Amino acid sequence: MSKAIYPGSFDPVTFGHLDIITRSAAIFDELIVGVLNNSEKNALFSVDERVSMLKELTKENPNVTVDSFDGLLVDYMKKSGATIIVRGLRAVTDFEYELQIAQTNHVEYPKAETVFLTTNLKYSYLSSSIVREFAAYGGDITKFVPPQFVDRIYEKSNIKKQ
Ligand code: PNS
Repeated sequence: MSKAIYPGSFDPVTFGHLDIITRSAAIFDELIVGVLNNSEKNALFSVDERVSMLKELTKENPNVTVDSFDGLLVDYMKKSGATIIVRGLRAVTDFEYELQIAQTNHVEYPKAETVFLTTNLKYSYLSSSIVREFAAYGGDITKFVPPQFVDRIYEKSNIKKQ
């Protein structure tokens, strides 16, 4: 049984994340979407809100669960039994940071293997911070995030849309 974790901040979840979730759920027997519980002061959504948004999006995927974790990813992996870390690679700019984290996690927990999925070309420019920035100025975010979350993102950004 392969048990993978797709960790991240997901603030907010984007079509790019959703694409990685769907594709990794088809590769691994079980997938945990792990929301990092960091006390980021500038976060748009609380961790509970992010978990509930992700649960709503993945409810039709029987092998996907959503959870939050504190502290080190490898500690959560030991607790949950996940041994594979899934990360999406958008461009070469992601690579250096991702390689460093993957290698550190492997040194800390040799059972942990990181698998990189190249993001769908359609979403290779997309990130949660781009969504937050666009929303903050009232820009159109409908191409970036699932439709049911668009209004909530504007509300959180204190933008009134009619
Ligand atoms: O979506 P993000 O913000 O790029 O995700 C980063 C994340 C959550 C995968 C990474 O910051 C992480 O795993 N944090 C948990 C703390 C940890 O284990 N750090 C060690 C990495 S060297």
